[in-house]
Amino acid sequence: MVAKKNLCVLILAAGKGTRMKSPLPKPLHTVCGIPIIAHILKAAQALGPAAIGIVVGHGADEVINTVKNNLAAWGVSAPVVFAHQTDLSGSASAVKAALPLIEKFETVMVLNGDTPLLRVQTLEQMFDVYEANGCGALVLGVTVPNPAGYGRIVRAVDGHFENITEDADADEETKKIAEINSGMYVFNSKLLQNALTQLTPQGPKHEFYLTDTLALIKQMNASVLVFGSDDYEQALGINSKAQLAEAEQILRDRVAKRLMDEGVTLVRPKEVFIDSEVKIGVDTWICPGCYISGKTVIGKNCYIEGNCYIKDSVIGDNVTLKMGTYIEESEVEANCQLGPYAHLRPKSVLKQGAKVGNFSEIKKSVIGEGSKVNHLSYIGDTIMGAGVNVGAGAITCNYDGKNKHQTVLEDHVFVGSNVNFVAPVTVHEYAKIGAGSTITKEVPAEALAIARTRQVVLEKKGVKKND
Ligand code: UD1
Ligand code: CA
Repeated sequence: MVAKKNLCVLILAAGKGTRMKSPLPKPLHTVCGIPIIAHILKAAQALGPAAIGIVVGHGADEVINTVKNNLAAWGVSAPVVFAHQTDLSGSASAVKAALPLIEKFETVMVLNGDTPLLRVQTLEQMFDVYEANGCGALVLGVTVPNPAGYGRIVRAVDGHFENITEDADADEETKKIAEINSGMYVFNSKLLQNALTQLTPQGPKHEFYLTDTLALIKQMNASVLVFGSDDYEQALGINSKAQLAEAEQILRDRVAKRLMDEGVTLVRPKEVFIDSEVKIGVDTWICPGCYISGKTVIGKNCYIEGNCYIKDSVIGDNVTLKMGTYIEESEVEANCQLGPYAHLRPKSVLKQGAKVGNFSEIKKSVIGEGSKVNHLSYIGDTIMGAGVNVGAGAITCNYDGKNKHQTVLEDHVFVGSNVNFVAPVTVHEYAKIGAGSTITKEVPAEALAIARTRQVVLEKKGVKKND
C-alpha cells in the first residue's frame, strides 16, 4: 500500500438507521465481533489515505466515543476527523457537513457507513481506475440477484453512465435493472463541491441525494465511470436485522475460509462462530459449536472439542479443550488440558501443562506448571505453584462479604478432597492437607494439616458389639 497524500476517505454514518428498530446507532451494530464502522475504517485505513472523515449525526456521541477508544485496536493510524450533520436530510447533506475536510483534498472516496463486507482490493482498483482515466467521479456498480431497495445504475444506450435512480423514485422498467449503486464512490473534490451546490430535494422524504451529484458532474463534461463487479456480497448494505444476520454469515464464511487456507482444521466450518480478529495456528482442530471471539489468539496443534467458548484469551500450542469449556480474558500456556465443562474467569493463567477438569471454576488465579485441579473445585484469587494436586471439591473461601483475599499454595502441595481454604491463607511447599479440612491458618512446608472433627461412632441401641 502506497500512502495517498491527496486522498481523503469520507464515511457517512449519520443516518438514523430507522429500519434497524434499535436504540443503538447503526454503525455500532457488530458483525463478526466488531462494529460495522470498524470494518469500514479498517478498509479505509488499508488504502493509505492522508485522512479519514466520519460524518456523525444520530447517536453522534456514542459513535465518536466508540471509534476514538478503538482506533488503535482496529489498526487505524490515519488522522480521523469527525463532522457533525445536524439536519439528517440525506447522503448529500452528510457530505456537505464535511466540506471543511474535503476542501483540503484533490480526491475524496465516499463510503456509506453501512457496508461492512466491502473489500480493500476493490477500493484499490476503484482508485486506480479513477486515476488512470482522469475521471470526475467513479462509482462501484454491482449486479445483484435482488436489487430491491437499492439505487439503480441507469446507463445510456451506448452503455455510458447516465444517472442513479433511487428505488423509491424508480418506475417499473428501472426497477428491473439489476446493476445497483453500492454506495462507494471516488470523486474529484472540486467537482463534487460544485455539484453539491446544485442539488434539489428528491423523493418521498425530500432528501438531498449524493447519488444525484454523479449526473451533475457528467453535465460538467467530466467523465463518470461505473466500476463494475459481480461480487455483490461486498455491497450488502445493512438496513435491517435480517441484513445484519446475512452479513454476519457471509463474513463468518470468509473468516472460516481464511483460517482453513492458513492450515486450521474446521470440522464443520458452517457450525463454528469465529470473530474476524481471531488468530489460530496450523493443525488446530475446532469442532462444531465453538464460539471464539474478540482478540483471542490460539496456538498450533490444539484440539478444541465442541461447544467451547473462548473470549479475548491467549491459548498456547498443544492445548486440549474438552467439550463445553468456557474461557474469558485468560491465558493458557502450552500443553494444558481443560474440561469437560471447565470455566476460566477473567485474569486466570494456566502455566505449562496444567490441568483444570470437570466442572472446576478458576477466577483471577495462577495455576502453576503441571498443577491439577481436576474435579468440582472453585479456585479464586489464588497463586498456585508447580506440581500442586488439588483434590475433588476444593473451595477457596476468598470473599468475606466485603473484600477478596488471597490463597497461596506453594510448589508440590497436595490437597485432599473436599477442602476449604479460608483466605487469606498460605500453604507452604510439599505440605499435605487432609481430606475434608477447613484450613484457616498457615501450613508450614512438608507438614500435614488436618482440620476436621473426629469421627464419632454411636452404636445402635440394643445391638451388641461383634454381634
Ligand atoms: C443508499 C444510496 C443507494 C445505494 C445504497 C447502497 C443514496 C441517496 N442512496 O441508499 O443508491 O444503492 O445506499 O447501500 O445515497 N446517511 C447520513 N446522513 C443522512 C442520510 C444517510 O450520514 O442524512 C448515511 C447513512 O448513515 C448510511 C449512508 O449514508 O451510511 C446511506 O444511507 P441509507 O439511508 O442507508 O441509504 P440507502 O437507502 O441504503
Ligand atoms: Ca443503506
